[in-house]
Amino acid sequence: MTECELVIRGGVVVTASDVLHCDVGISGERITALAEHLEGRQVIDAKGMLVLPGGVDSHCHVEQLEADGSIHEESFETAAISAFAGGTTTIIPFAPQFKGELLHGPLADYRCRAKRSPIDYALHQIITDPSENVLEQELPALAAAGMRNLKVFLTYDPFHLDDGQFLRVLSAAKKIGALVSVHCENYEAIRWRSEALLRAGRPEPASHAISRPKVVEREATYRAIALAELVDQPIHIFHVSCAEVAEEIARAQRRGVKVTGETCPQYMVLTAGDMARPGFEGAKFMCSPSPRLKEDADGLWAAIRNGTLDIISSDHCGYSYDGDKGKRLNGTDADFTNIPNGVPGLAARMAITFSEGVVAGRIDLNTFVCLTATNPAKRYGIYPRKGTIAPGTDADLVLWDPQRRVTLTNALMQHAIDYTPYEGLEVTGWPVMTIARGRIVMDKADVQTTPGSGHFLASAVTDGARPRGLVPDGFDAALA
Ligand code: URP
Ligand code: ZN
Ligand code: ZN
Repeated sequence: MTECELVIRGGVVVTASDVLHCDVGISGERITALAEHLEGRQVIDAKGMLVLPGGVDSHCHVEQLEADGSIHEESFETAAISAFAGGTTTIIPFAPQFKGELLHGPLADYRCRAKRSPIDYALHQIITDPSENVLEQELPALAAAGMRNLKVFLTYDPFHLDDGQFLRVLSAAKKIGALVSVHCENYEAIRWRSEALLRAGRPEPASHAISRPKVVEREATYRAIALAELVDQPIHIFHVSCAEVAEEIARAQRRGVKVTGETCPQYMVLTAGDMARPGFEGAKFMCSPSPRLKEDADGLWAAIRNGTLDIISSDHCGYSYDGDKGKRLNGTDADFTNIPNGVPGLAARMAITFSEGVVAGRIDLNTFVCLTATNPAKRYGIYPRKGTIAPGTDADLVLWDPQRRVTLTNALMQHAIDYTPYEGLEVTGWPVMTIARGRIVMDKADVQTTPGSGHFLASAVTDGARPRGLVPDGFDAALA
């Protein structure tokens, strides 16, 4: 057998379907062999370690410009450091669009920023203004360039689409083979409750959760699914916070509608109660949808086990707590409607999922790999290059110590943000080495990155994004 350049020897290789006791051979940027007793010019001893596909974080906000001119503090360079520290080797962040504008300006700017990325990336394109030009000229060009992942918001003031706009995006996506990922919360309901909370003199961060209870998320999820069914366009529901929302997805899945869903670590280990910490501290935990109650995590794990939810993303957001850019962008006295939403979690995603999932006995190792690597790669059209361990695929691997007990601290996250909402959380299982396209990028927390070495990953049309060919009464309004 030919000698490999690098051999990972003696670990337990885990993929979406298998647990194998074998070596992994790497030459150049690819995996070249899976076998026992491989020889290599460089050999890494992985005894006692799990050898997993590098994580794919399919929902994270990196260096993203916002409508108010602010920018997410995590740059492509710092995001890569944090991702590698946590065992993730591919990210899918978001190119923005601003109302009244076309896509190409902000996209060109974003792709220019992404050129410095040390980590491989695909892209989502946010659609906030689905004008005729955007839908008919720009989206087909984007798809041809390998950007087939669209994100829309059904809430948030500078972003949200009304039902007519959403239907037009779904129709355009159907024509170009794109997948539409949706932030599901009811815009008017949140506005109505928020105004009432402010009138009642309750501006503190804890009111965030009260402004958007589960039913607000559930209604928007049901509506998104119904409109997607009307168009016959597959959709993916972002950041599902509770079992009640997962139930809407499951009901649709049972009748054959092509809808999938994800959740995030914040819904497993944070609660609405965290936003009630004294003073402004609750802002550290503020994200949308809101974290719920402790017992809601069990419902999410059940939805994962029965296959309703099949991805865990971080929804990483780059907002620091101190200073005047992040959470305090609008001042320390800002009411809950004016505090930037989102929590950082790039480096914590895999460890929390492993600890709360595998170690707690809720899921098996294969499901862990599916949730954190294989399914996101498949969903967004970058599999099998990413998300698995097999000859011919990119040599993206993480050596995982399943026994290591770690107390999460902000220093361990290695991100640009000055806090982690998971400070003090104890996890079992931790990444000890990350390999990206054959190069060791993290060794015992020491991360080495090269700006510009990350590749843009074009997304292929996936089976999951193909319409079913079923429209009500046989009339396809999207194609008429
Ligand atoms: O609170 C959140 N999730 N902020 C990030 C933007 C989004 O909604 O995904
Ligand atoms: Zn969202
Ligand atoms: Zn997000």
